[in-house]
Amino acid sequence: MNFSLSEEHLMIQQAARDFAQKELLPGVIERDRDQKFPTEQVKKMGEMGLLGMMVDPKYGGAGMDSVSYVLAMEEIAKVDASAAVVMSVNNSLVCAGIEKFASEEQKMKYLVPLASGEKLGAFALSEPEAGSDATSQKTTAVDMGDYYLLNGTKNWITNGGTASYYVVIAQTDPEKKHKGINAFIVEREWAGFEIGPKEDKLGIRGSDTHSLMFTDVKVPKENRIGEDGFGFNFAMAVLNGGRIGIASQALGIASGAYELALNYAKQRKAFRTEIINHQAIAFKLADMATQITAARMLCFKAAVEKDEGKDISESGAMAKLYSSQVAMDTTIEAVQIHGGYGYVKEYHVERMMRDAKITQIYEGTSEIQKIVISRSIAK
Ligand code: CAA
Ligand code: FAD
Repeated sequence: MNFSLSEEHLMIQQAARDFAQKELLPGVIERDRDQKFPTEQVKKMGEMGLLGMMVDPKYGGAGMDSVSYVLAMEEIAKVDASAAVVMSVNNSLVCAGIEKFASEEQKMKYLVPLASGEKLGAFALSEPEAGSDATSQKTTAVDMGDYYLLNGTKNWITNGGTASYYVVIAQTDPEKKHKGINAFIVEREWAGFEIGPKEDKLGIRGSDTHSLMFTDVKVPKENRIGEDGFGFNFAMAVLNGGRIGIASQALGIASGAYELALNYAKQRKAFRTEIINHQAIAFKLADMATQITAARMLCFKAAVEKDEGKDISESGAMAKLYSSQVAMDTTIEAVQIHGGYGYVKEYHVERMMRDAKITQIYEGTSEIQKIVISRSIAK
């Protein structure tokens, strides 16, 4: 076992850190206030290879390993959790699923522009009445011969208003329950596809979240991913990897808040000394540093196991469950360490506290991660 990062890992970590400081930090408070999508910044992330990090270069990706992905996600999320979720969805939910399970024609047509960052992707599983209970899909895709007719509504879709291509999960044969579900690549411009208004959110306000409405959208047969009935297993496999992305986003939010709190505690004085000299404050920082290190190790473990081709349902769920709790706990304490200054926007930690909450909800709530973990350990 080796705990050192390679030269290549250190380089990508530094590149992502520099990018976040130079390109994401300026304007992050305003984008949060105005719910403004980081369009220019996401374009530059594509040029740096951050939107298709693990995709084979022959499909326009950067060909890196999953540890590099964790490192880059942490650095981006430290500064701007909204940009981080855009990155996570495109990498883990869209590109990874297409690369692993789609046909060569689908990869050439869709993966190449997605991995290079020329186009953005979205992943549409959740519905108004099917979130955690994902097998209860109400969106239907009726087989009409050489195309499917898609009808229904998807909810809370990240990159919903900015994507060009959408991976959409729908029920083809309700009698077969989850074995009757399929996954399709749907293009934004197709007739009958409508995008709902942007959601007004507590956190990750720079990311764009929309509902999607499909009315008799004709989806060509060649846009189905995999064999008939593979859609639910496809979604679960994709989410196992996606949870590493969100775990790393949570890790970044936590480590960003910790660094700000540590620096603040070293310079803020109360009762004639820097507040870090009050043990109550120092112990909060000690807890944060320990928990963040543990979260990072869980993210690395899941990432290494993914690259080894192992089943990562348990390790991905553990990384997400723990990192998201650490993000919540750390950001709350970071606000506390900043006192009144922590409660205003200028000091960043109040935004981080709001951003942290979503990591316990999306890509499977913490309760769902416990279901996944408990089923795995009971086997
Ligand atoms: N990995 C691989 N396969 C899995 C799996 C996993 N983690 N969990 C379930 N499956 C498979 C099962 O093996 C089974 O397949 P077979 O019949 O072929 O064996 C099939 O899925 C159905 O499994 P269950 O009977 O266990 O299904 P269930 O109804 O009890 O629910 C669940 C399983 C784990 C709760 C699942 O519904 C789930 O993960 N729900 C959460 C949904 C979710 O994470 N949504 C996120 C949307 S994307 C998002 O939010 C984007 C963003 O963050 C930005
Ligand atoms: P519900 O499933 O209704 O859950 C409500 C509560 O009940 C939760 O606390 C849950 O943990 C609990 N619960 C449910 N079932 C159980 C159980 N069996 N045991 C114990 N507790 C249980 N979805 C996508 O498909 N694509 C996206 O890009 C996407 N992006 C999102 C972005 C944002 C900002 C948000 C808010 C959501 C996004 N989602 C996306 C949807 C997200 O994945 C769902 O909100 C999430 O899976 C929970 O589903 P739900 O909201 O329907 O809650």
